[in-house]
Amino acid sequence: QKDLLGLRGLTREEIEEILATAEEMKSILLSKVKKSSHLQGKSVVTLFYENSTRTRFSFEFAAKYLGAHTASVAVSSSSVAKGESLIDTGKTIQSMGVDVIVIRHPMSGAPHLLAKHVSASVINAGDGINEHPTQALLDMFTMKQKKGALDGLKVAIIGDILHSRVARSNIWGLTTMGAEVRVAGPPTLMPPDIEKMGAKVFFKVEEAVRGADVVMGLRLQRERQQKGLLPSLREYTRLFGITEERIRLAKKDALIMHPGPVNRGVEISSNLVDGAQSVINEQVTNGVAIRMALLYLLTRRNHDAVR
Ligand code: CP
Repeated sequence: QKDLLGLRGLTREEIEEILATAEEMKSILLSKVKKSSHLQGKSVVTLFYENSTRTRFSFEFAAKYLGAHTASVAVSSSSVAKGESLIDTGKTIQSMGVDVIVIRHPMSGAPHLLAKHVSASVINAGDGINEHPTQALLDMFTMKQKKGALDGLKVAIIGDILHSRVARSNIWGLTTMGAEVRVAGPPTLMPPDIEKMGAKVFFKVEEAVRGADVVMGLRLQRERQQKGLLPSLREYTRLFGITEERIRLAKKDALIMHPGPVNRGVEISSNLVDGAQSVINEQVTNGVAIRMALLYLLTRRNHDAVR
């Protein structure tokens, strides 16, 4: 298969291969020259219909560090603004000799649709509330680097689970790798099918965090929320905010993670973001390594790679 569209259905072996390749890529990333020829002669385009800082730039740097040609489609000033469809836009980009299209789109399933219509590899950089597979891979890579293994880890994900593609991809990936995933948040922001995905549901942060190895905060995605579903910000912080007091219930050496962007003082206290247990900046660095690994694996096999 030629694309990376989600972690749902990926096998343990496939995830292990990506994480192992990311380790090699991290050594290139941390080297003085930051340059290799893994993607020499390949072209990578980012096509983002939603805002991004971390994902888009880390893909662009990842491709450049591996020697690829890169371009970024500015959707608002492209022919998308004139009404061009996603499929036509994808085919147009592909006709310029592009090997990989990295897409973020507000509609769940948009990358899957594009992948059916282009022969280029498609990487899902976040589709609606469905999946954000590269974020979950970088999260798992960070956990593995810090804790040695994913098997048996207790990971508490706190916040707006309903609108979180990060939570969904992490649940699929982490449970495949043998971790226990706990989710906590307001009942109105908890998807009804979340237990079927393999997560343990809590409505009190304290219960989810108790004894956890990792505590991951999520941003309230107010742009996706329906009015009336959400308590006030102050009430949300009081009931569900990740605070120093609540973190004391987790293991002493628990990691504090967040996919970003962070709303400091809302879903997590500012001191914890900057504190000794936080690995939030390392997540960003590891995001480049993971994206280098994926670009390499997808192009190396000449369209016979992971999905
Ligand atoms: N974590 C994440 O997807 O961040 P961006 O929206 O900045 O890409």
